[in-house]
Amino acid sequence: MTVLLIGSGGREHTILKKLAESPEIDKLYAIPGNGAMTDIAECVSIGVKDLDAITAFAKEHKVDFAVVAPDDPLVLGLVDCLEGIGIPCFGPSKLAAEIEGSKVFSKNLMKKYGIPTAAYEVFDNIEDALKYVDTAELPLVVKADGLALGKGVLICQTTLEAIAALREIMEDKIFGASGSRVVIEEFLTGPEVSVLSFTDGKVVVPMVSSMDHKRAGDNDTGLNTGGMGTVAPNPYYTEEVAKECMETIFLPTMNAMNAEGRTFKGCLYFGLMLTPKGPKVIEYNCRFGDPETQVVLPLLESDLFTIMKAVAEEKLAETEVKFRDGHACCVILASNGYPKKYESGFPITMPETLKHGAQVYVAGAKRAEDGTLLTAGGRVLGVTAVADSLKEAIANAYDAAADVTFENAYKRNDIGARAMAAYENKGE
Ligand code: AMP
Ligand code: GLY
Repeated sequence: MTVLLIGSGGREHTILKKLAESPEIDKLYAIPGNGAMTDIAECVSIGVKDLDAITAFAKEHKVDFAVVAPDDPLVLGLVDCLEGIGIPCFGPSKLAAEIEGSKVFSKNLMKKYGIPTAAYEVFDNIEDALKYVDTAELPLVVKADGLALGKGVLICQTTLEAIAALREIMEDKIFGASGSRVVIEEFLTGPEVSVLSFTDGKVVVPMVSSMDHKRAGDNDTGLNTGGMGTVAPNPYYTEEVAKECMETIFLPTMNAMNAEGRTFKGCLYFGLMLTPKGPKVIEYNCRFGDPETQVVLPLLESDLFTIMKAVAEEKLAETEVKFRDGHACCVILASNGYPKKYESGFPITMPETLKHGAQVYVAGAKRAEDGTLLTAGGRVLGVTAVADSLKEAIANAYDAAADVTFENAYKRNDIGARAMAAYENKGE
């Protein structure tokens, strides 16, 4: 079969490597892919938002199945376009992708169907929003309605900060058109857990849980990034919590989307906070998380392509989704200066095979004419190690990452430390 993957990051590299293991696939295309993927996929230089060009390419190259990984093409409706010409896809329709594409939509959905989330108000004009924050309880959280590269969230400790946030989002449009409407919500506390799930609209099958490290610096200091590392599973996500989430969040969300005529098929990502009042939804994503995927899929034992096809055919209930016991840790190597200004174009060196069976998932790299892999982005790559214990997974990921080098590389040195502390507190 010929399979097309849309996307170019570390998440996509992880998905691609997993798909390449499937005996059913004999040809892989990636649009646009990146310089590190060319050994397993033919990379085609088309923009992920160019729906017409992607659809034409898929038709011309007789693609049998497509996997749409990033949020932008999903929210724009690429799955509808491809399915419209008879190509089955893994990924939600445009209507279903709105669960990530609009925070106002997702908050209203949760309110209507009683799914636990932070209390909130929606504003589409700044005067009303300013009036509201004048008397609202602090701290509070201001979110731009639409997609903002995961950055449209500002946590405000004071009224002055909230006023500044509203002006930046709604007047200065620092997140573009996505700031025409804002959600202002209650500040929640508690450990955060990412749960990616497969769903075909009939059942929800959660994958192994994970923990992201969003801040740039050690001990969760510095600016928010796309994610500097991950571990799986997440120690806070106990069996008891998992059961509660299934009953109060996962199934109600699937049923709510069905009831709205927006059946969600694909990977539904639940960003959860385990608050003193129980698990609540911080955000939904309509896709695999990055860099959560880099620790979740390496623990998947079942064939990813078989699962993806089953989701598309609404046969997930009959399909085995098995994860191995054990732990995974992914350490991101970024370009120094990320998430602000950084330089690119440095050669990346790494051994053919990494120590401890670790894997490299490349996010931002391109091939020079002589075949050298060069850095081309803020987050350059992730190194993932899998082991029986978290301690070993962390040690192995760092040890393997030490053999991957490029000028100006930057990484956090404490990925997994919070999870280790949580296990130690539980006496494990
Ligand atoms: P989001 O893009 O919605 O995932 O938000 C980014 C990050 O902001 C989350 O991972 C949380 O750490 C934080 N955050 C978002 N909403 C809230 C909230 N209501 N209370 C506390 N922290 C929040
Ligand atoms: N790691 C968070 C996300 O993928 O949105």
